[in-house]
Amino acid sequence: MLSLRDQFPSLASGLAGTYLDNAATTQAAGASLARMASFETGGRANVKRGIYPLATQATAAFENARAALARYLGAENPNEVVFTSSATAAINLVAHGFGAGLSPGDEIIIGEGEHHANIVPWQILRDRAGVVLKVLPVDDEGYPRLDALDGLITARTRLIAVTHASNVTGAVTDVAAVCDIARGKGVRVLVDGAQMAAHGPVDVATLGCDFYVVTGHKMFGPTGIGVLWARAAVLDAMAPFMGGGEMIRRVTFDETIFAPPPHRFEAGTPPITQAIGLGAAADLLLGLEWPEIRAHEQVLLGMLMERFADRDRVTVIGPGATAKRLPILSFTIAGVHPHDICELMGARGVALRGGHHCAQPLMDRLGVAATTRASLALYNIPSDIEAFTAALDETLEVLA
Ligand code: ALA
Repeated sequence: MLSLRDQFPSLASGLAGTYLDNAATTQAAGASLARMASFETGGRANVKRGIYPLATQATAAFENARAALARYLGAENPNEVVFTSSATAAINLVAHGFGAGLSPGDEIIIGEGEHHANIVPWQILRDRAGVVLKVLPVDDEGYPRLDALDGLITARTRLIAVTHASNVTGAVTDVAAVCDIARGKGVRVLVDGAQMAAHGPVDVATLGCDFYVVTGHKMFGPTGIGVLWARAAVLDAMAPFMGGGEMIRRVTFDETIFAPPPHRFEAGTPPITQAIGLGAAADLLLGLEWPEIRAHEQVLLGMLMERFADRDRVTVIGPGATAKRLPILSFTIAGVHPHDICELMGARGVALRGGHHCAQPLMDRLGVAATTRASLALYNIPSDIEAFTAALDETLEVLA
């Protein structure tokens, strides 16, 4: 039996170095790569079309992947899972499809701490359809201020769009509480789960949301694949986003009758190989001991925070050590641009991200132009933190 870390070829080989940029993309699981290779080298076929054996096997593999994602997200019905090209594409699909049912003056509440992917599609909808956008503020640590939510909801509120966990601060939103407030008022809730999905299976039933989006490359699967989960009744009522083959029941020059979900939202040949690879990643994750892994991630996060506490030029942005956060840590170093830090750390083999992290409104709220971010995943180990600390001390010396 391979150790957990050995199940990630780029880590086992050492080629990924000290990889602490997991919020940008995680390393791919060997099981995911193997399943994609087997599909490609075993003779691939398109899905949902052919009736020869290779084609029916391809369709079965694709639909098995859908079922694996349904299990990972806690959805009872695999037909509630739509494959897209990314989490961004999934949110755009909702903005378009759910947005088509909105009227001028209807309101959408978005979090102040959102990634641009959960802001810009709603602004495009606002500008196209006259929908009103309101902002749910975050507190000084980056948590959405749920005490402000009631006051923002009106009879015209149709949707609340919030992240499950911030890609900048790691702050985890109490999504169940948001959904409790929303449900009583007939408001739908969309959750951006892009960061959360790398840290264990999700249970949309317990959360009580209506839409949940994830992306393959942030959960140890391939790039080019994302997932929208939505309640069957909500999906059923949604207009398609893209038109094309395999999303229809019947086409004439007068009209098209669309297929039921999920196929209505999967026009054209889908990212078959990527879906199969993501299904394998979900299967792998479903088999892991998450209480232990989460405890391990929190220990490493605690180590990182301790190292920062010893260095007075460094300021941590966001929450302190608490269970309500992911191991995603943003920091600033007085007088130094994050890109310089990332370059110097990168030259020492440590992968970090620096910049605004596609969350400029949150940067404005937190009073910083940019941060440096270290983000951990299940395969990081204490020696990664030691390598980070050694590189940070050298960097601080260079920048002194
Ligand atoms: N959304 C990704 C990040 O936070 C790319 O880095």
